[in-house]
Amino acid sequence: MANKAAKPNGKLGVMVVGLGAVTTTFMTGVLMARKGLAKPIGSMTQYDKIRVGRGEDKKYLHYKDIVPLADLNDIEFAAWDVYPANAYESALNAEVLKEKDIEPVKDELVKIVPMKAAFDHDYAKRLDGDNIMKDKTRWEMVEQLREDIRNFKKETGVERVVVLWAASTEVYVPVDDEVHGSLEALEAAMKADDKKRIAPSMCYAYAALKEGAPFIMGAPNTTVDIPAMWELAEQTKMPIAGKDFKTGQTLVKSGFAPIIGTRCLGLSGWFSTNILGNRDGLVLDEPANFRTKEVSKLSTLESILVPENQPDLYGHGNDEDTQYYHKVRINYYPPRNDNKEGWDNIDIFGWMGYPMQIKINFLCRDSILAAPLCLDLVLLSDLAARAGRYGIQRFLSFFLKSPMHDYTQDEVPVNHLFQQYVMLKNAIREMGGYEADEEID
Ligand SMILES: NC(=O)c1ccc[n+]([C@@H]2O[C@H](COP(=O)([O-])OP(=O)(O)OC[C@H]3O[C@@H](n4cnc5c(N)ncnc54)[C@H](O)[C@@H]3O)[C@@H](O)[C@H]2O)c1
Repeated sequence: MANKAAKPNGKLGVMVVGLGAVTTTFMTGVLMARKGLAKPIGSMTQYDKIRVGRGEDKKYLHYKDIVPLADLNDIEFAAWDVYPANAYESALNAEVLKEKDIEPVKDELVKIVPMKAAFDHDYAKRLDGDNIMKDKTRWEMVEQLREDIRNFKKETGVERVVVLWAASTEVYVPVDDEVHGSLEALEAAMKADDKKRIAPSMCYAYAALKEGAPFIMGAPNTTVDIPAMWELAEQTKMPIAGKDFKTGQTLVKSGFAPIIGTRCLGLSGWFSTNILGNRDGLVLDEPANFRTKEVSKLSTLESILVPENQPDLYGHGNDEDTQYYHKVRINYYPPRNDNKEGWDNIDIFGWMGYPMQIKINFLCRDSILAAPLCLDLVLLSDLAARAGRYGIQRFLSFFLKSPMHDYTQDEVPVNHLFQQYVMLKNAIREMGGYEADEEID
């Protein structure tokens, strides 16, 4: 799979599911950067430099000088949403960016009018928009979405498309082998309109992969994290990535936990809480939707600080006394809007078991942190497709809270931020025709 990526031809279509806070911040930032009016800060594809070659031959280069990335000027946007507001109105409603940072690209944003969403109210009870496909079975949703993708290609002349989910978190759909275990079963369930086990997001993913577009899941939904979708991605030779943008608290967690683990300190508990007041917070206020997020957020620590590997350090804390206590909470608090505040209380212990505490208070801006991840995930998925990489893109774990992995084979996901970075760098090297390596820079 270590193929060099082919050069891009023509334009890249970026079709986003959900035209809310994250998406409009992402789109506005790209359009502003194109005009030289803002800088895409936080984006690895635009700023990071990595080493290629060794010894005398080593050089530190931007990604675009190693691999043939699509240029920001070659991106065309489209979106689906439950609400009819165009990207300009939606950006204003989101109140993430100031008007002065939106107005210069108003003309372009106004043209991004959301297509009708494949939506089911039971998957996000707090949403009541009516820009939705009406009375369609799951299979009919798939067919409509495929047509949307084809029409977008025809109308804009884009050569390639990537589909990114930045829509609300759906209620938790437990993986059920009977319908999610194989492509044949999944298709049969879609045709039988199995509303309980086929989330609308699965219709988007299925449609994207069938139309030859990589699919990225930016929310914690299990959508492409099922064997049936892995099979479809293999069949269509398309990359898939997910789940859940790693932005604020989990980014800190996956960067901070290695400090504890590397120095062989003990952990008895980690309590993470957040207050958040945007629409994402509103949807997550519904327990069934929060459950999806909780599963994703909890997974980060467990593979970094592993009780089985270090029972003296990580084997204490909860009722069963098998592991440290780990709890994550998100509280909907409208006054803060998109400016999420996260608190982490970390109870650690050291020499002879003496306890200590670490407190982290992160006053972040959710969509400001998520926007560069959207850009990187889109550009790198498009690149991966051109390099002939398909199926789960493990090198994109760096950007994701709950990286996809083959759990049917007991594969352990890599959650350690710095190991994920090595995977990212090596994938870039390989797609640029260099050898992967683990040399220290
Ligand atoms: N901002 C972050 O830091 C961050 C981090 C990780 C994950 N996420 C996830 O990204 C997603 C987007 O976050 P946001 O703050 O932009 O939320 P948002 O509520 O502002 O926007 C989501 C949009 O998706 C639309 N939507 C819901 N279901 C849809 C469907 N089936 N089809 C089409 N559109 C649909 C909603 O109408 C809404 O406009 C959420 O799932 C969130 O959990 C965000």
